[in-house]
Amino acid sequence: MDLISSFSTETWVLLATILMLLYIYGTYSHGLFKKLGIPGPTPLPYFGNILSYQKHRVDLLQLMINSQNSKDVDTRKALSDPEMVAQGIIFIFGGYEPTAEALSFLFYELATHPDIQQKLQEEIDAALPSKAPPTYESLEQMEYLDMVLNESLRLFPLTARLERVCKKDVEVHGVLIPKGTVVMVPLFTIHRDPEHWPEPEEFRPERFSKENKESRNPYTYMPFGSGPRNCIGMRLGIMNVKLAVVKVLQNFSFKPCKETQMHLKLRRQVLLQLEEPIILMVEPRDGTLTGA
Ligand code: HEM
Repeated sequence: MDLISSFSTETWVLLATILMLLYIYGTYSHGLFKKLGIPGPTPLPYFGNILSYQKHRVDLLQLMINSQNSKDVDTRKALSDPEMVAQGIIFIFGGYEPTAEALSFLFYELATHPDIQQKLQEEIDAALPSKAPPTYESLEQMEYLDMVLNESLRLFPLTARLERVCKKDVEVHGVLIPKGTVVMVPLFTIHRDPEHWPEPEEFRPERFSKENKESRNPYTYMPFGSGPRNCIGMRLGIMNVKLAVVKVLQNFSFKPCKETQMHLKLRRQVLLQLEEPIILMVEPRDGTLTGA
């Protein structure tokens, strides 16, 4: 008893927290306890609400789990556990890698085109005075930012070619494509075709001004693929890249340094890859960094 009465306030708070967590855990796993025939804690009304949210939440993992328990599972193929894991992995890698690479190429282009970088920083500063934190709406409204990102993804489509399997025999402009043929769409080459993109090697965000965009064939620019199997994370990817660009450019500018390659050497693979890493110099804009 002496020991208990000498507990400090922090110890009591810690004990209460542990008890609370144990209760939540017990409540959360109540269904499992019941299934195994072990009496578990009954959910309190509040935690009951959390439980019902868990059952009805809509996220990718829950949708995949639901597909296994769905009533019409006989008429559709449910995802197996390994298939669910595979989907989870492709989301993690598919989500991380292209976003990081898009940023590398974009910052490289800004470093080697200081006038464009300055124009973009002016747009950001005007939309978000005093380094205000960006909002979803402010990112959507920045036209020049959108143009710069589009032009960077034109020059560096992270998936250099798309592939589709032909579902039935089809004739396109007199060429028969038999069922089962793998058709390759050379994205990198299309994005640099001089017939559609004059002086294609040049980084010119103006190609994506409103007027120029409207008059263009949509199949000449497909950085996120096309059709029902295009990139499922397109909107998230675009927002992530824009958010990162704005946060970084509010505080820093990029410049080339002696290690910077002036002509990037790319590997000829499905996923666009560099022979050597991009090295740039980063300079604080005015010496006052925000806590971002
Ligand atoms: C700048 C960022 C990104 C770029 C440039 C990009 C590009 C692409 C491209 C070109 C494809 C192939 C589309 C086709 O064959 O028509 C694709 C597919 C895919 N992407 Fe992205 N992606 C980006 C971000 C993301 C993010 C953030 C996620 C997930 C959170 C994601 C998940 C996927 C998935 C799951 C597929 C396969 C879709 C399917 O086969 O149905 N991507 N992406």
